[in-house]
Amino acid sequence: MKFYVLTLFPEMFGNAVKGSILGRAIEKDLISIEEINIRDFSHDKKHGKVDDYPYGGGAGMVMQAEPIYDAFMYVKEKAGHDMRLIYLTPQGSVFSQSKAHEFAMEEDVCLLCGHYEGVDERVIEEIVTDRISIGDYVLTGGELPAMVMIDAIARLVPGVLHNDESSSTESFENGLLEYPQYTRPEEWRGRKVPDILLSGHHANVEKWRAEQSIIRTKMYRPDLIKE
Ligand code: ADE
Repeated sequence: MKFYVLTLFPEMFGNAVKGSILGRAIEKDLISIEEINIRDFSHDKKHGKVDDYPYGGGAGMVMQAEPIYDAFMYVKEKAGHDMRLIYLTPQGSVFSQSKAHEFAMEEDVCLLCGHYEGVDERVIEEIVTDRISIGDYVLTGGELPAMVMIDAIARLVPGVLHNDESSSTESFENGLLEYPQYTRPEEWRGRKVPDILLSGHHANVEKWRAEQSIIRTKMYRPDLIKE
C-alpha cells in the first residue's frame, strides 16, 4: 500500500512512521510513504507563498486552493489513477479501527495536512473524498493526525505484522478493550500473575480473558458497551 502525504512540513515524517515495524514494512516493499511539499506547487516562485488572509476577516491565514489542487494532480498523475484524498481536520468524522480497516483495503491513499486557520473550502469541495479527525481536540496541524492514521492503517496491511504480533485479539477488533497481559516474573512487588494464566488450561484462559475484556470495557469505556 502506498501513502502520499500533502504537507508543508515533510521533514516531520522521519523516524516517526519510518522506523520500527513500519520501517521493516517499507524495506520489504509492503508499504511506502511519500511526502509531497505543497510549497513546491506555490505560484509565487519568489517566496513560495501558499497562504493568504481570510475573506471576511478574522485571525490567521488560510491555505490557498491552487497549490493543494496542483499537488494532488501531481500525485494522481504519478500513481496513474485516481485515489481517495483524506483531509485531516478537527471538523471531520472521528477515526476508528473500522475506518482503518476500510482504508487498508485501498491500493493507495493521499492525506492532506492542513495548517494555519484552515484550507480554502473550495479545494476541499473539489477534490477531498474524506474528512477525518483523530479526536475532539485541536492540534497545530494535520501532520501528527496523518502519522496516526498511517500507523493504524499500515499495520493492517497483510504481512506488515508478523504472526506473533497479530492484530486480531487487540482492543476494538471485537468492539471491546483487550484483556490484561503479564510476563515473567510470576510475582513482582507482591503482585502475582493470576493463577489461571499459569494453569495451562487453554479453554479456561480464553474464558477468563473474554470476561476481563468485558470488565475493562465497562470500567474504562462504558460508551463502547452501549454501542
Ligand atoms: N488538525 C488539527 N487538529 C486535528 C484533529 N484533531 N484531527 C485531525 N486533524 C487535525
